[in-house]
Amino acid sequence: MFDKNHVLPVGSDHGGFELKQYIIQTLSAEGYKFKDFGTNSNKSVDYSDFIHPVAKAINEGLFKFGIIMCGSGQGASMTANKYLNVRAALCWDLEQARLTRLHNNANIIALPGRFIDFETAAEMVDVFLNTDFEGGRHINRINKITVAD
Ligand code: RB5
Repeated sequence: MFDKNHVLPVGSDHGGFELKQYIIQTLSAEGYKFKDFGTNSNKSVDYSDFIHPVAKAINEGLFKFGIIMCGSGQGASMTANKYLNVRAALCWDLEQARLTRLHNNANIIALPGRFIDFETAAEMVDVFLNTDFEGGRHINRINKITVAD
């Protein structure tokens, strides 16, 4: 069970802004705590500017899990996955959110703000946060993800 005293960093561009606001509002009402890295409006911005701070904080171990969004979720997940200690998973339904915790030990969920309904997205975040890594055969697999230069 996720400890709701752990703060969740969250970031998005304009394409994920409405979803970010919905997630913060809906899940705050359930006791979750957020640190909002922006963006703060629908004004067009570059997703990388708002995803890097979230991914950097996860990479440095400042938070356990993070939540990121953009219109498609693609740019957000690509940006976050540049960090060695980040495993960001682009998810679009409940089963994806569950599986990426069970099998990939993902520490960031990336959401496509323009392609999923907000209610499902909030549920996905809840499932993501409350599903434990299965370990076992998946440990070697995630250890082989990183490519040395
Ligand atoms: C912004 O229009 C859009 O390109 C962005 O939110 C995202 O989908 C990029 O991957």
